[in-house]
Amino acid sequence: MFRTRLTDLFGMRLPLLGGGMMWLSDARYVGALARGGALGFITPRSFDGLDTFRAAVKACREASDNAPFGINITQSRRPEENRLVPHWIDIGLEEGARCFETVGPSPKDLFERIHAGGARVIHKCAFIPHALKAQDAGADAVALVGCEAGGHPGTNELPTFVLGALALERLSIPLALGGGIGSGRQVAAALALGADAVVMGTRFLVCEEIWAHENYKRHLAAQPAEASTLALRSTGHPWRVLDNATVGRTREMEAGGASRYPDFGPLSTGRLGRDGAYAAGDWNTGLLSMGPAIGFADRLEPVQAVLQRLMDDAATGAARLHALLPSSPSCTSVP
Ligand SMILES: Cc1cc2nc3c(=O)[nH]c(=O)nc-3n(C[C@H](O)[C@H](O)[C@H](O)COP(=O)(O)O)c2cc1C
Repeated sequence: MFRTRLTDLFGMRLPLLGGGMMWLSDARYVGALARGGALGFITPRSFDGLDTFRAAVKACREASDNAPFGINITQSRRPEENRLVPHWIDIGLEEGARCFETVGPSPKDLFERIHAGGARVIHKCAFIPHALKAQDAGADAVALVGCEAGGHPGTNELPTFVLGALALERLSIPLALGGGIGSGRQVAAALALGADAVVMGTRFLVCEEIWAHENYKRHLAAQPAEASTLALRSTGHPWRVLDNATVGRTREMEAGGASRYPDFGPLSTGRLGRDGAYAAGDWNTGLLSMGPAIGFADRLEPVQAVLQRLMDDAATGAARLHALLPSSPSCTSVP
């Protein structure tokens, strides 16, 4: 329905990317996105070793019914945690992934390795200078996420649509826009702006194919957009999450002087949320990545149903824009 430079580049049917989600982007979820026409990215850091990661990529290829699927390569700020990055790329390539989403500094070597394996790469970042740097370093596309994005949007304070419109004046490679996008109207708006796709995470958190505990997903589906908040601001590396008791506790610690990740002990680790909320359903345990796009998620349903509604609403949005043009016969009748 919407053919863009990014649907051509990666070969997916819809201009929708499901950005990698730590602990959650597994074969079942990414495979469901692929079958539905979107492009998702498995997160290697979610697996306890290279063998389990390889098995997940294999399972994802089978679940994808020949549709494209990808691998998310999130580089850590701590170099010792990036030891396995080349192996993740190689395993992805060996098992048939042809799309990569990279995050983090100095990605030139990664781009070269990915390209040498015959795959394409979209580099995700939160600042226009970083997007331009990625373009110069050889990225095939960039994804820019605004301050609304769930997870770690960095210190950027610009909202998605300001960032996107400014970036489009300077970038020449395809652009995906993300952060706070959860409805088809926004998809149409991003495409009208000039983006080639959107990248979404939060909106998919309540999908049936997300393995997290049903109690957790039901809690999320009942949340308004305002339930998203920024935690750990004092560290300079804020984290956009569900407002819960753990956030309250970190704020008390900040009032007492805590300002570095280690100061928060286990509270600042992703494993706490994985075990407490995702596995056991207790939404008050852990810092749980989530943006305001949760306000668009009001029921648990399959990925396919969400994609269908997004695209139906995007088509309505595009038709509305078209009908507003003075040359359109219906321009005076549009509300
Ligand atoms: C639960 C969750 C976990 C995430 N984990 C990662 C990650 O490990 N690597 C990454 O590049 N982005 C991660 N993100 C960011 C998403 O890939 C995507 O860029 C973001 O969700 C888009 O903004 P939205 O949440 O407003 O849709 C995560 C987001 C969420 C909601």
